[in-house]
Amino acid sequence: MTEQITFEVTKNLTPLADAQREEILKDPGFGVVFTDHMVDLCWSEKGGWHRPRVRPYGPIPMDPASAVLHYGQEIFEGLKAYRHADGSIWTFRPEANAKRLQRSAKRMALPELPVEHFIQSIKELIAVDGAWVPSAPDTSLYLRPFMFASEAFLGVRAAKKVAYYLIASPAGQYFKGGIKPVKIWLSENYSRAARGGTGAAKTGGNYAASLVAQEEAYKNGCDQVLFLDSETHTNLEELGGMNLFLVYGNEGKLLTPKLSGSILEGITRESIIQLAKDRGLEVVEQDIPIAKWREDAASGKITEAFACGTAAVITPIGQVVAKEFTIGDPDAPAGEITMAIREELTGIQTGKVADRYGWMTKLS
Ligand code: PLP
Ligand code: COI
Repeated sequence: MTEQITFEVTKNLTPLADAQREEILKDPGFGVVFTDHMVDLCWSEKGGWHRPRVRPYGPIPMDPASAVLHYGQEIFEGLKAYRHADGSIWTFRPEANAKRLQRSAKRMALPELPVEHFIQSIKELIAVDGAWVPSAPDTSLYLRPFMFASEAFLGVRAAKKVAYYLIASPAGQYFKGGIKPVKIWLSENYSRAARGGTGAAKTGGNYAASLVAQEEAYKNGCDQVLFLDSETHTNLEELGGMNLFLVYGNEGKLLTPKLSGSILEGITRESIIQLAKDRGLEVVEQDIPIAKWREDAASGKITEAFACGTAAVITPIGQVVAKEFTIGDPDAPAGEITMAIREELTGIQTGKVADRYGWMTKLS
């Protein structure tokens, strides 16, 4: 086990006033307001991980030659802190995020942050910013750990100096309309990731690659973009920032794209697979051609579809919009199975449903 490290804590002397913070927490939106503090740690080839700090949230000094600004050597994570009815603060499966950050680090030639340091960084931030964890229904504090190549060097090689940060932002619903079914745009021209590429890593470049398709989605009245595999352009992969499930309601079956190496291994996805199996649903991970979604939706076999991820939790999909066709009905209500799984998952996260797998970690 890695040793605990001691963070040097510098308190923010001008935190946001309590009344202003409470006003924000009533309806926080997503990713727009940040807490009073942040955490950072440095890494160097010679010194390893060092200088753990908690300090006031603020701009990061950045050398213009920092490798991340030129070659995109960066990774991140996303998880949430939830306030339970007794006031305590918890997070969901942080070890899984820590391990995924390590896998992303390996792929992006960055150093692996020990799991214990990752979890300690979250506890340290909550110790100073716990008041930022909201308690209104469907709210949480979104935690965003990230790591980047900070070395000032323009040669193309893995950086020898790296910075890890943790920031936090109170969060409500990711999509503006709440949990009403979303419309998703099928990207037929652009791929998000390729086999052998970085799709399974949570790295900024994958999101940069998705933005032009996401803009196309907005222009076509959709909330998110759906990507197909880059080789055959036939099989479903995932959305720009979420995994995907199709529900065969009459057969008691869920289908989800199998992990291909170019899909992000969602922690929500994995948790849903477990919860669905526990309900007696069959869960099949396989290649799913878009043509199959069309056919099985038209014949009534596919009764529901949903997107899932930390930010979006479980969001019903009303309609897929492609250039030449649509699937589903944008005005159909959220599906029963979708909402039942959502209820159970959010119940575990908020302490209303028993945590039978020990997924929750107490932060304070
Ligand atoms: N796929 C992508 C591309 C994502 O950005 C995310 C969000 O983190 C997910 C899937 C879902 O992952 P998780 O459930 O771990 O949040
Ligand atoms: C998350 O769900 O944590 C993500 O990183 C996805 C992003 C769309 C916010």
